[in-house]
Amino acid sequence: MKLQDKVAVITGGVSGIGAATAKLFASEGAKLILVDMNEEKGASIEAELKSQGSEAIFIKADVTNEEQVKNIYTTAIDTFGKVDILFNNAGIGAVKPTEELTYAEWRKTVEVDLDGVFLVAQAAIKEFLKAGSGVIVNTASMYGWVGSPGSAAYNAAKAGVVNLTRSLGLEYAARNIRVNALCPGFIDTAILGDSDREALINTTPMNRLGKSEEMAKAVLFMASDDSSFMTGNSLIVDGGYTAQ
Ligand SMILES: NC(=O)c1ccc[n+]([C@@H]2O[C@H](COP(=O)([O-])OP(=O)(O)OC[C@H]3O[C@@H](n4cnc5c(N)ncnc54)[C@H](O)[C@@H]3O)[C@@H](O)[C@H]2O)c1
Repeated sequence: MKLQDKVAVITGGVSGIGAATAKLFASEGAKLILVDMNEEKGASIEAELKSQGSEAIFIKADVTNEEQVKNIYTTAIDTFGKVDILFNNAGIGAVKPTEELTYAEWRKTVEVDLDGVFLVAQAAIKEFLKAGSGVIVNTASMYGWVGSPGSAAYNAAKAGVVNLTRSLGLEYAARNIRVNALCPGFIDTAILGDSDREALINTTPMNRLGKSEEMAKAVLFMASDDSSFMTGNSLIVDGGYTAQ
């Protein structure tokens, strides 16, 4: 097992890519702290993982709230004694023509998709420095690499996550903390909302949406020793979209 006795915090861990990764990590022997604002889904996935013999707890927290973020790590250390891995994955989508976007909507998207990633990573790094090691995988997007119309705030935030990842990777490279990012293409999760899925499929060279389970495998690679010489980098898993 690739994550035997490792303790992993997963934000956005009760839905889509986060939930699929939680299940894969559990099957690889990890103990899990699932963080999300959705209590109902949190209770349900915690119960599901426990019924399969995994150690998992759900913590309700908003990744943009500094106090709640601190509490994630306090609870994690109290419960499991340590944290080895952060999958920093919570995020919201936002599709609206720029001329109609309010500043409040811009701020909200950047607050969750960039500020939230920073806050949760910073709190992890403080623990990892005390422990002497740690691994972070941030969820960015293929839209951290290319633009698209109608999604300015999201795309700017995700590009921020790609360069935050490079910067943190470099800052802690010599201190045994690795930081990488997952850049998904169009993945079949709730975040797609009422987007025209046929249109998304038609612009993807592999002619389908990606699956959360396919993202989880890439996250496992970056979170485990399989990627022991990789830091500050991003893995684009997008069915060929950005190769066009
Ligand atoms: N699905 C895609 O096509 C796609 C593509 C590129 C990137 N991503 C990124 O993948 C990540 C996971 O998204 P998903 O596709 O699994 O969608 P999802 O909506 O299924 O999961 C996102 C989770 O984040 C949680 N969340 C949102 N705001 C939060 C906050 N402030 N504090 C705590 N939790 C919060 C939600 O409650 C939800 O459970 C996101 O960062 C998203 O931007 C998704």
